[in-house]
Amino acid sequence: MNATLERWSTRRAFILAVTGAAVGLGNIWRFPYITGENGGAAFLVLYVVFVLLLGLPIMMAEILIGRAGRRSPVQSLGHLAALAGASRHWGLLGLFGAFTVFCILSFYSVVSGWSIEFFITAINGGFVGRNPAEIGAGFEAFLADPWRMTFNHTLFLFMTMTVVAAGVAKGLERLNNLLMPLLYLLLVLLAGYAATTDGFGTALSWLFRPDLAAITPMVVMHAMGHAFFTLAVGACALMAYGAYMPERQSLPHAAGAVALLDVGVALLAGIAIFSVVFSQGMDPGEGPGLMFVTLPIAFAELPWGALWLSVFFLLLLLATWTSSINLAEPMVATLQGRGLGRGRSAAIVGVLVWLMGLLSALSFSTLAEWRPLFGMSAFDLVTTIPTEIFLPVGGLLIAVFAAWVMPHREAQAALGVGEPGFRLWRTMVRWISIPLAALVLAAGLL
Ligand code: PHE
Repeated sequence: MNATLERWSTRRAFILAVTGAAVGLGNIWRFPYITGENGGAAFLVLYVVFVLLLGLPIMMAEILIGRAGRRSPVQSLGHLAALAGASRHWGLLGLFGAFTVFCILSFYSVVSGWSIEFFITAINGGFVGRNPAEIGAGFEAFLADPWRMTFNHTLFLFMTMTVVAAGVAKGLERLNNLLMPLLYLLLVLLAGYAATTDGFGTALSWLFRPDLAAITPMVVMHAMGHAFFTLAVGACALMAYGAYMPERQSLPHAAGAVALLDVGVALLAGIAIFSVVFSQGMDPGEGPGLMFVTLPIAFAELPWGALWLSVFFLLLLLATWTSSINLAEPMVATLQGRGLGRGRSAAIVGVLVWLMGLLSALSFSTLAEWRPLFGMSAFDLVTTIPTEIFLPVGGLLIAVFAAWVMPHREAQAALGVGEPGFRLWRTMVRWISIPLAALVLAAGLL
């Protein structure tokens, strides 16, 4: 990549592309289950605080670096470090990011594969007339089937890597942008349905009335990790998007819009899912299966439920597809930067991620007994450590680079705001985001 990269055509296109990367499993699958496991409102409050104090300012830092460097993450970091007279080793941060997305994509592909299976089951009317217990048992049986898990993982990863290899991600982005409003509409519809169930009141107070006593260092750590994950921040993946940002665009406005859309999806999904949980007397701490069990139950009660459910999984699939492309891109770009062809780079990344993903895919069946660390399964480890440790560490370093290392002039120009706005952002990153992230990481690790 070089300084004459093509730019996103409009400001809106840039915002929508970043939203495509941000909105995905994190909002609809991970947010509800992790909130459920961490006591509800207390977690939600922390998550919103972290989005505001860490996620947003660091998202700006990350995109700003890409925008100022106008190169791939590794090259942008190295180039800007050289400009500032700092160590060129900053480029390694780009490699660390690539390793982080490698781990994330490995389970992301497995879980997105669940959506493929559920889409097909839904469209064939497989959930019609099933009661909640049967739906739950069906999901358990699916997890325990190594072949179906592997098949769907393979299919999803293949879909992702073909788009990346062909370099047609922008076409997919456009399709995604066209259909995203429909996903919102469906979530609003679901939340509307949720309001008619008798679990709605409980769900609202459980989600929005925090019990501060429920806050432990681990809950804080989970909330911080999730803020990074949901905004796609901390892995240098958005840095690559920054390189394509239009000349005249205010980064704070763009980032603010993305965060608003992103949190909106999560809240709608949360309201819909927890209303079902409480009206069916289910356990909010059910874990990663939460969405996959509650939504079929909810839709089963609606007119045309099977149709809506299949549309929903199709849209979810599309949302995860654009996120997974964003996860794969930094790795492919890194290999390409070393002189490999695009197709070959995508194939290598695809095979490595596929192998790593097998650990997650099989950790409910063949590898169920394998608990390599802290008594956690491979799936639990790979859904936790990259998100809750690697992303915050990456984000912290990105923030240090943008707010302390980068030359003032480049940084300000790339943020796209005047001097007072720039100072406000930099003060916030220097004295709030960086110490806060360091503190939570240190507390969580100890
Ligand atoms: N933000 C995406 C989601 O919520 C996941 C993601 C994380 C994408 C990190 C890119 C980088 O599903």
